[in-house]
Amino acid sequence: MSKKALYIGLMSGTSADGIDLALVEFDAIETEQANGANLIASYYQAYDDVTHNKITELYNPSDNEIDRAGSLHVELAEKFAAAINQFLSQQQLSPSDINAIGCHGQTIRHRPVKNAEISAPFTLQIGCLQTLAVLTNIRVIGDFRTKDIALGGQGAPLVPAFHQAIFGSTEKDVFVVNIGGIANITFLPKNAIEQTTGFDTGPGNALMDYWFSQHHSTRYDENGSWAKSGTVSVPLLQEMLDDKYFSQSAPKSTGREYFNRQWLTSFTEKTSLPSADIQATLTALTAETIANDICQLSTKSDVYLCGGGVENSHLVSLLNQKLSKHSVMNTHTKKINSDSLEAMAFAWLALAFDKNIFGNIPAVTGASKQTVLGVSVNP
Ligand SMILES: Nc1ncnc2c1ncn2[C@@H]1O[C@H](COP(=O)(O)OP(=O)(O)O)[C@@H](O)[C@H]1O
Ligand SMILES: [Mg+2]
Repeated sequence: MSKKALYIGLMSGTSADGIDLALVEFDAIETEQANGANLIASYYQAYDDVTHNKITELYNPSDNEIDRAGSLHVELAEKFAAAINQFLSQQQLSPSDINAIGCHGQTIRHRPVKNAEISAPFTLQIGCLQTLAVLTNIRVIGDFRTKDIALGGQGAPLVPAFHQAIFGSTEKDVFVVNIGGIANITFLPKNAIEQTTGFDTGPGNALMDYWFSQHHSTRYDENGSWAKSGTVSVPLLQEMLDDKYFSQSAPKSTGREYFNRQWLTSFTEKTSLPSADIQATLTALTAETIANDICQLSTKSDVYLCGGGVENSHLVSLLNQKLSKHSVMNTHTKKINSDSLEAMAFAWLALAFDKNIFGNIPAVTGASKQTVLGVSVNP
């Protein structure tokens, strides 16, 4: 019998909705497989509005960013630690039971490409690893994206290596679609799982959340019902689809510094459409961009959906319509909680660090080579 190992994966995505934790048991830890990844339990701690706003206000350049980001860096680590300590007590576990925490942290800026304003590409995740290690008394592995950027990659997406290990099939083309603030897909071609590709398709919930919150007192369009009450504007949708990001070839990744208020305003300021029609169009944009990318890669496949966007039943029904030749499912079908998959991936990346397993896929990120990702911090 091989020894079991327990890791906690921690994800706080660009929706800035809250902290996702996954307690994952790995068996066969001597091998390079993550097939034994077993989700023991998951935990979610929503952010209050103040914290949500402190995060989202750092997505775009504004005044006094260094002070605000610096203190939020520590404050988020305190929240991460409180969530982990609560989770451990709920699971009747102690810090010594956990091999390590794999902490993604909170992205506040993702600039993976050099351009006129960005002289050196970078990506920035906050949530102080040292503070988290001290407050939990558990070793923390984090800063997963930087090494890939150092190797000329985009530092994203990093989940495809984990998806490959658990969803790859020799019989069918498989896609894993994560609909967070930004949406990303992983493509696992049948018989050639090693040729895995993956990229950010564009906005997931980010623009829908932004537009919804401008017209309501809550943060998101529950089940997509506001979008459903409106009518998609085909000309507006087409104009949005003409954005160069959607036709760009992979590797590519994006964030809320691009698909943001300014991006949306550049379209909405020219129109007098009812606001519900704009929500309907933004929901269609997310569905259309994901479906277009899938159809370009495969004519028939199994599509597993995860991330908060799967709770938006209107969005899921649009995806089903646009992917009628494909079989669209929730990752629940594979007994994997769709809210926990990303956090599980970061638990696996922590295991991968400990086992010297490569975490990036150069065909996905554009890095010059495969590498072990992350740094480790002792309590
Ligand atoms: N019941 C729901 N109806 C519609 N959208 C939902 C629902 N539940 C969650 N969401 C969406 O999911 C988002 C959170 O998804 P998540 O996967 O955590 O994204 P991220 O990884 O960017 O944090 C919310 O901001 C919201 O847009
Ligand atoms: Mg989230």
